[in-house]
Amino acid sequence: MTAVLFLCFFLLCFSFTPSLQHVSESEPLVRFKTSVNITKGDLNSWRTGTDPCNGKWFGIYCQKGQTVSGIHVTRLGLSGIIDVENLKDLPNLRTIRLDNNLLSGPLPPFFKLHGLKSLLLSNNSFSGEIADDFFKDTPQLKRVFFDNNRFTGRIPTSVMQLAGLEELHLQGNEFSGEIPSLTDSNKILKSLDLSNNNLEGEIPKSIGERKNLQMNFQGNEKLCGQPLNIKCDHKPSSTGSGKDPNEVTGKAIFMVIFFLLVFLIVVAIITRWKKKRQPEFRMLGKDHLSDHESVEVRVPDSIKKPIESSKKRSTTDGSSKKGSTHHGKGGAGNPGGGGMGDIIMVNSEKGSFGLPDLMKAAAEVLGNGSLGSAYKAVMANGLSVVVKRIRDMNKLARDAFDVELQRFGKLRHPNVLTPLAYHYRREEKLVVSEYMPKSSLLYVLHGDRGIYHSELTWPTRLKIIQGVARGMQFLHEEFASYELPHGNLKSSNVLLSETYEPLISDYAFLPLLQSNNASQALFAFKSPEFAQKQQVSPKSDVYCLGIILLEVLTGKFPSQYLNNGKGGTDIVEWVQSSFAQHKEEELIDPEIASNTNSLQQMVELLRIGATCIASNPDERENMKETVRRIEGITI
Ligand SMILES: *[C@@H]1O[C@H](CO)[C@@H](O)[C@H](O)[C@H]1NC(C)=O
Ligand SMILES: *[C@@H]1O[C@H](CO)[C@@H](O)[C@H](O)[C@H]1NC(C)=O
Repeated sequence: MTAVLFLCFFLLCFSFTPSLQHVSESEPLVRFKTSVNITKGDLNSWRTGTDPCNGKWFGIYCQKGQTVSGIHVTRLGLSGIIDVENLKDLPNLRTIRLDNNLLSGPLPPFFKLHGLKSLLLSNNSFSGEIADDFFKDTPQLKRVFFDNNRFTGRIPTSVMQLAGLEELHLQGNEFSGEIPSLTDSNKILKSLDLSNNNLEGEIPKSIGERKNLQMNFQGNEKLCGQPLNIKCDHKPSSTGSGKDPNEVTGKAIFMVIFFLLVFLIVVAIITRWKKKRQPEFRMLGKDHLSDHESVEVRVPDSIKKPIESSKKRSTTDGSSKKGSTHHGKGGAGNPGGGGMGDIIMVNSEKGSFGLPDLMKAAAEVLGNGSLGSAYKAVMANGLSVVVKRIRDMNKLARDAFDVELQRFGKLRHPNVLTPLAYHYRREEKLVVSEYMPKSSLLYVLHGDRGIYHSELTWPTRLKIIQGVARGMQFLHEEFASYELPHGNLKSSNVLLSETYEPLISDYAFLPLLQSNNASQALFAFKSPEFAQKQQVSPKSDVYCLGIILLEVLTGKFPSQYLNNGKGGTDIVEWVQSSFAQHKEEELIDPEIASNTNSLQQMVELLRIGATCIASNPDERENMKETVRRIEGITI
């Protein structure tokens, strides 16, 4: 634990200190550039001797501004040979996007890049067969997009053995033969597109019968089985059709053990986390910035053994991932005092559920925040929810807590996330809300940037900022009498729908929290007025809105979110000095700055943001006026 914290601290401290590594990473990139032909556009911004993480290199993404983590070179008419050996000199490279180019020939040996998480080669002309064990040395791959190329031969079995595979797109190729089965240890595959190939035979049950998996098999005439509703004429060969009775009882025993295990794990999760209190930057540094990790529940050995000996693997045994401690003695016995109670629904628009439904759901850790930890749970009826376990919400007695949560449950605004249910116990509260597919603004902006950042065009960013502003105005009207109508507005509390519509969460918590906890946990208490005079007001929410606005426009991670202020970019200082020197345009994220027709609007929005973060609250406009100005910006 200490080691992990120390490491994060170290990384954040040195994020913005130039180091030799930066510059040395320019060399393999420049070699890459010269080894290929570019017919549309250019990579002139890639220059030896400059820092690839200085924000000026087109298509280069860096982890915490420090080391190259993504190459994103699309639609440049790229052709030639990709020299993978050369890319090995980028030790932290996680994402390669070369889609929509003119690359051809056999698949380059990307397996040499062992840390790769995303490989996107869609819409090129790669051809030939892919070795069956191609993916054996890239165990962290999550996204494999090889669609619309000319690959032939079988789908490599090793790709289906990737435990962390989330999205596999192979459509529009000439793959043939049977589909390999998916490994049991993969619990997170959510999108599989194999359409328009020449695949045949039965779709493996490990794939066809899986819940919560988006699948497409169209355009493969000889495929059969679920979910196509085409019966297979079973050939007597291969996969066991005549089940022997031993296997059937084995399966029944396995099911019993499996449900027992799920129950134990959920109890373990519910009882354990009052122990832990982690500084906020752990969440930022690890869980959100890198990627989602799947469940990290360590199953006690005494339970694990019988399972292993039943020769099957459970779908919740995520014990292999990096150690999350404190699970060791998770047992059924001690639910932690206070009784289990049930879930109280406050908003039934998505249907009703109870604690048993949540307990049976497959869970995934999303991260630890300043108020507690968050889990994603997918219930049997398909509804995905986020369960937030909030510590130290003990200010109100149960009745008053209920009144407050019922009130939240009645809020209806397209940019405000209405909770669905809660669970009350003395020492911890669970708040359940709908899960949003694009995760949070924090994740989309600073997480696996190679993937989502390109979708954050100027119109999308403006839509997000305006949505957040409208949601805030609504909250300021609803909770007009509150000292802090929101109190904790920051990019991790702005969730995004599939279409990037923002939804604000974790609002109006101040009355629920003990005051010393509130000042630790809520972002509004990081405003200058609290630092100087120990005061907060609705204008503190305006300050928080300003930070988000500037975060979205600059694409930088604000150091203001960190407890020690070390790491990230001091957005307040940077914005104020750029304005003083009339160099506002240098603030704009290079990704959108090329949109020169809209520079004027971007600068206007920067000005609004700069007013919001004025250190004297009297110099800020109130929420209503701020929102009116933000709404006035048009594309
Ligand atoms: C780039 O294009 C030129 C002219 O078409 C060709 O001679 C050269 O071999 C190409 N280089 C690569 C790396 O494909
Ligand atoms: C590939 O090209 C098709 C047709 O132009 C387009 O619809 C699709 O979005 C492209 N795929 C990617 C990943 O860009």
